[in-house]
Amino acid sequence: MSDLREGNLGPYPLEGRVAVISGGSSGIGAASARRLAERGARIAIGYNSGRDRAEALARSLPGEGHLPLYLPMTDSAAIRAAAAEVEAKLGRADVLVNSAGTTKAVPHNDLDAMDDETFDRILITNVRGPFSTIRAFVPLLKRSGDAVVVNISSLAAMNGLGSSIAYCASKAGMDTMAMSLARVLGPEIRIVGISPAGVDTDFVPGRSRDAVLKQATLSPLKTVCQPDDVALAVVAAVTHLRLTTGSTLLVDGGRKL
Ligand SMILES: NC(=O)c1ccc[n+]([C@@H]2O[C@H](COP(=O)([O-])OP(=O)(O)OC[C@H]3O[C@@H](n4cnc5c(N)ncnc54)[C@H](OP(=O)(O)O)[C@@H]3O)[C@@H](O)[C@H]2O)c1
Repeated sequence: MSDLREGNLGPYPLEGRVAVISGGSSGIGAASARRLAERGARIAIGYNSGRDRAEALARSLPGEGHLPLYLPMTDSAAIRAAAAEVEAKLGRADVLVNSAGTTKAVPHNDLDAMDDETFDRILITNVRGPFSTIRAFVPLLKRSGDAVVVNISSLAAMNGLGSSIAYCASKAGMDTMAMSLARVLGPEIRIVGISPAGVDTDFVPGRSRDAVLKQATLSPLKTVCQPDDVALAVVAAVTHLRLTTGSTLLVDGGRKL
């Protein structure tokens, strides 16, 4: 019984802590960077092709010491190098937000249009990449002693509706992986999934804004979800859901209903 911890944890403080965000260069990741920085965290802003955007964001965030970080989901060696860079330059990691992701719009009923190369790219970016990122950062997160990983998943994982079959499968993989990881990473690290439905970003190549608006009209809350709406859910998971791990939370305006 001596290894039991007392509850009454209170809100998780972010002052003096470091948050690493994959896909921090854009959309939900960038909005999460801003909200976590506002609360006092230094941010490692992960990018792939968006180095300029990550650098501009680092300059614009409140607080000091934010670090643009090359964090490509398809390259595990580069991800390990990024963890080493965070340790060398920021000294710690307490929060990891896995927001990087990719997709391609492929009609579900056209199986031949979902070629192997596309399927592999989506699975590697959305499942192996986040796993590889968690694996690389676990030593730093464990050392924090009270760390949290937030996965940006999707309603697509639960209802199989989304830009492509591979995308839906990838987000379901992310959610299941989080259940397994939650068992082995506690008590030092918890892992929480945040699952939006359509968010008003350019995430799906070729998706019109009308398609995003249609998602909103089909939901009880009739609200066009913006990246900041998801970022606030990320903050809630980090600061207030302190006894949640291995679970995924919908932030979908009720779209699943
Ligand atoms: N928008 C939606 O409707 C929606 C709905 C549900 C869930 N989501 C999820 O939300 C997350 C963020 O999407 P978003 O809406 O914010 O879209 P976004 O603005 O297009 O951002 C995507 C981010 O992923 C990064 N990325 C893409 N491929 C990468 C790779 N191979 N390695 C590393 N980073 C990579 C991009 O980095 P660079 O720009 O630097 O290349 C960018 O920062 C995704 O995981 C997505 O599945 C989105």
